[in-house]
Amino acid sequence: MSDPIPVLTIDGPSGSGKGTISRLVAQRLGWHYLDSGALYRAVGVAAGWADLDLDDAGALVRCTFDTDIGFRESAEGDLRVLVNGHDATDELRTETAGAAASAIAAIPEVRAALKDRQRAFRRAPGLVADGRDMGTVIFPDAPFKVFLTASAAERADRRYKQLKDKGVSVTMDGLLREILARDARDASRTVAPLRPAEGAVHIDTTGLGIDAVVERVLAVVAP
Ligand code: C5P
Repeated sequence: MSDPIPVLTIDGPSGSGKGTISRLVAQRLGWHYLDSGALYRAVGVAAGWADLDLDDAGALVRCTFDTDIGFRESAEGDLRVLVNGHDATDELRTETAGAAASAIAAIPEVRAALKDRQRAFRRAPGLVADGRDMGTVIFPDAPFKVFLTASAAERADRRYKQLKDKGVSVTMDGLLREILARDARDASRTVAPLRPAEGAVHIDTTGLGIDAVVERVLAVVAP
């Protein structure tokens, strides 16, 4: 029997606006929100703290099982991520954490170990799940599926502005290279590669404002 709790999956490459859009859509619907990338990033950060080698798959799998990941809302209403009890939200957003997450996410046992943790987010009245394989692997029975894209140049530009606002110094060229490398790795890995789920509604966000994208995504749930 299919699960009666509705899920809206929002998949797409890095910088396509998934995080911002998913959070706003979840707020508008009054549904829960899963930032699945944060789980992979959290393991990446924990692996960094433990000084693990990113080529040592066995150690990374053990690290996945041993890492406690918690989400809580701050007094200001933003989502904080706790890794082994420490607030690691800011560290999680760095490109270093993203690159570590992408390397770790290619290990099948790591993905398997995080499967149930992700599915546990499916709670009434509904869930907006943001990631790479939400519609294909984690919630294949989701009634609503979206695939968000944007040109690589625009995605690099968005990341550049985000990081600059946070005072992180990066170059546009470097960012674009990192984004393209991460896209290539995410799309070419053998397990759960980044690809649109069957039946997903494609939305190209290049040149679109946040509000316009939110309305298009909401229209998928309530046409
Ligand atoms: O979405 P975010 O940029 O936070 O994800 C970081 C990395 O985690 C991605 O580049 C991808 O390799 C991995 N990831 C994944 N599957 C997901 C979410 C993220 O493989 N569902």
